[in-house]
Amino acid sequence: MAQPLDTSHFWMPFTANRQFKTKPRLLAAASGMHYTSDDGRKILDGTAGLWCVNAGHCHPKITAAIQQQAAEMDFAPTFQMGHPKVFEAATALASIAPEGLNRVFFCNDGSESVDTALKIALAYHRMRGDGLRTRLIGRERGYHGVGFGGIAVGGIAGNRKHFGPTLPGIDHLRHPLDISRNAFSRGLPEHGAEMADELEQRMLALHDPATIAAVIVEPVQGSTGVILPPKGYLQKLRAICDKYGILLIFDEVITGFGRLGSAFAADFFGVVPDMITCAKGLTNAAVPMGAVIVRQDIHDAFMDAAPENTIEFFHGYTYSGHPLAAAACVAAIDVYREEGLFDRAAAMAPYFEQAAHSLKGLPYVKDVRNLGLVCGIELEGVPGKPTARAFDVFQKCFWDKNVLIRTTGDIIALSPPLIIDRQQVDQLFGAIADVLKTQQAVPQTDTVAA
Ligand SMILES: Cc1ncc(COP(=O)(O)O)c(C=O)c1O
Repeated sequence: MAQPLDTSHFWMPFTANRQFKTKPRLLAAASGMHYTSDDGRKILDGTAGLWCVNAGHCHPKITAAIQQQAAEMDFAPTFQMGHPKVFEAATALASIAPEGLNRVFFCNDGSESVDTALKIALAYHRMRGDGLRTRLIGRERGYHGVGFGGIAVGGIAGNRKHFGPTLPGIDHLRHPLDISRNAFSRGLPEHGAEMADELEQRMLALHDPATIAAVIVEPVQGSTGVILPPKGYLQKLRAICDKYGILLIFDEVITGFGRLGSAFAADFFGVVPDMITCAKGLTNAAVPMGAVIVRQDIHDAFMDAAPENTIEFFHGYTYSGHPLAAAACVAAIDVYREEGLFDRAAAMAPYFEQAAHSLKGLPYVKDVRNLGLVCGIELEGVPGKPTARAFDVFQKCFWDKNVLIRTTGDIIALSPPLIIDRQQVDQLFGAIADVLKTQQAVPQTDTVAA
């Protein structure tokens, strides 16, 4: 008889460990739109793993590329050495990036890509003799990973409060979520573009624009519950940054690789930042990898300023451009292109939107917001038990409906693989609707702070 799984040693990330271990939710296999749970159930993946498996699970072409690379060369350093695949990967990524952003620094995940981009911003100004620019501006409810740079510019209390003062010289814009004016908007909300003006009117007025190095935002705030930029908001941020020589960084760890129906959110919004941070869909999540895509002249400033034969940027990771990740990256970008997955997401978006908004009017549904193949469903919380409502829906979807969703606070966030079809869209929202219809005022399942 198989031994029961020992769950005691793995300290799980962003998990209520004690709750989880009373009844583990285990995934054992995956293919296309589905996981298979350890008890043999086929689970529809409504979250592309963790916003990352955009081409669907275990894509044969990506799997083969990784297998082949692992057999051919397991590892090669990229400090003062190189290997062909990493250059191919950078070329492939530049080929789908917005025009002008064509220099690529590789790292291993989204958190590292954020910290790398912040360091590039600070060093860039210094290289050009503008070393007073040391301040960084993020946004409330922004998620930029868990490095010290990322939690400092990020705006999530839970990610910061246990870890001291983090970085100095940081400030935050307000987030633009305004349910009172924009509830149940389809696509971009109408109201709130003026919130971008506070960058100029409050932040720059307070700190002096000449001290600001960069502004970093997620074009669509994902992890704190799908917060969409009001129409015109990102354009305003771009204009203010341009006016004062401040770099604009888009954190596209979630929005990159087709989530909005275009390669990057920058394309979708027609707003080109100075740097894009990305990860997740970069390799279809099959091997960890992150990257910063940098405007060429920012890169060139480093090349021009540093003395000959010296290292221009003192930064890097042992696994920057790891061969397996590079192989997965090249294969994933090929798959996105060959299968037209970004266009496919754009074509499916109206159907997805319709299905999402069909939840309006169901018990406890306070707001539905959507763009491309991402959607947030905000629920009325249980008084005194924040997160309990959404977590109950999550548990019931997984155990009773064979559907994987993700929740944050009392918000359900959906981001299926881009290969989802109409029947699967119906299944996903149908499962959530069924569960909501049977919601009790106070759910009986275990609660958890997420
Ligand atoms: C916008 C954004 N930035 C950064 C990160 C951190 O990425 P990672 O978990 O790969 O470090 C995430 C993760 O979800 C994210 O959504």
